[in-house]
Amino acid sequence: MSGNLPASLLRQFAAVVGPTHVLTGDAAAGYAVDWTGGFTGHAPAVLRPGGTAEVAALLGLCADAGVAVVPQGGNTGLAGGGVPLHREVVLSLARLDRLSPVDLDAGQVSAGAGVSLQQVADADPGLDLGVFIASRHSATVGGAVATNAGGLRVLRYGPMRAQLRGIEAVLSDGTVLSHMSGLVKDNTGYDYPSLLAGSEGTLAVITAARLQLVPRMTDPVTVIVGADSPGEAHALARRAVWEVGGLHSAEFFTQVGLELLVEHAGLTLPLRPPTPAYLLLEAAGPGAAEELAELAGDRPAAVGTGAAERARLWACRERHPEAAGFMGVPLKLDVSVPAARWVRLASEVAGVVAEADPGARVIIYGHVADGNLHVNVVPGADRAGEAGTAAGDGRHEDAVFSFVASLGGSISAEHGIGALKARWLPLVRSDAERALFARLRAAFDPAGILNPHVLPR
Ligand code: MLT
Ligand code: ZN
Repeated sequence: MSGNLPASLLRQFAAVVGPTHVLTGDAAAGYAVDWTGGFTGHAPAVLRPGGTAEVAALLGLCADAGVAVVPQGGNTGLAGGGVPLHREVVLSLARLDRLSPVDLDAGQVSAGAGVSLQQVADADPGLDLGVFIASRHSATVGGAVATNAGGLRVLRYGPMRAQLRGIEAVLSDGTVLSHMSGLVKDNTGYDYPSLLAGSEGTLAVITAARLQLVPRMTDPVTVIVGADSPGEAHALARRAVWEVGGLHSAEFFTQVGLELLVEHAGLTLPLRPPTPAYLLLEAAGPGAAEELAELAGDRPAAVGTGAAERARLWACRERHPEAAGFMGVPLKLDVSVPAARWVRLASEVAGVVAEADPGARVIIYGHVADGNLHVNVVPGADRAGEAGTAAGDGRHEDAVFSFVASLGGSISAEHGIGALKARWLPLVRSDAERALFARLRAAFDPAGILNPHVLPR
């Protein structure tokens, strides 16, 4: 036995993938903890299939044995959806790393689930992947589709679902579904690739995706504009969306997070004197520099056109996910509201958290043009935490999610429901909607083995 798995089942796994790709004990431990350190579980085994047929065979064995499975890509998830918190077997898709040659006629590429987003972005010198996230060097295609990753260019290209032109996936009974021809127009029935995007490993295991690529930016310009408040940053971002034709990004952060990055990560302040809030804008193509300068007007601004200077400015925003970690294990909440309510959210959320936990520290940043705000909370010292999770006693989530729901928003803009938010789904999804989710789930995964603790059944 390994954990709760019979030795005979481990031998059957090994017969499919080879003994070196069935990991147990210490070799499995790294797959059981997430990137933030906030979610730690235990994997009785980690299975590392080398191809779709092996995924199908392994799932068939797990379904027959009634063994629950957590699919895992680059393990960069932020909601605890990719780690075995309930002693599930981890199915690592890392070895499905085949990247086909770029189809230049269609501007598309087919990529295995284990290919990193950066590898897709680098596949052709003239083309790029529309989804751009800070964890792109580790995050993989399968995980990014399964969580419908968003990131820093959603205002221009949409999230991962919008890049999808096809999918290959395996159902829990071992059936392989493949629809990878990449047709832009294809009304031949249900668009199940779109449904699998954002399904968080609960419906099928994604083994490959066909992705639309976008033109690589030419002459990009990055600007950080200082603002007195979230309201000023929001108003500027809305104007940028309408007035700057080549706009790719509109990102918000505050001096609170930046100060931590200056102190602990060696970053330099982009503006002196510092301002309470910041808006990072990036645009490309002819006229971008002039349009951004006109928009900034006489506000304080730092401009980068060369790669090194742009990278320095981007670090101020892209390293924000690390900022709260310098104060403790953060709860990473990720919410969105209708555009007209974003300023209230950004201005009031720290006060809402303080009412629930006066000792908590709050860092906010996010994708202002998408109505999205990341709310990172480091709970106060008196927090009653649950072993192995960042979920604590739930009072911080209660406070933030109830506020967001009262604004007509979503409790997960980008990162998914995972294990972190499962309890709060009824705040934003009706009984009828959740009943439909359960019926869809039963149709795709009648054995009930795929990520059973993610999204309530
Ligand atoms: C980001 O926008 O930086 C990512 O969603 C990661 C995070 O929220 O920490
Ligand atoms: Zn984000």
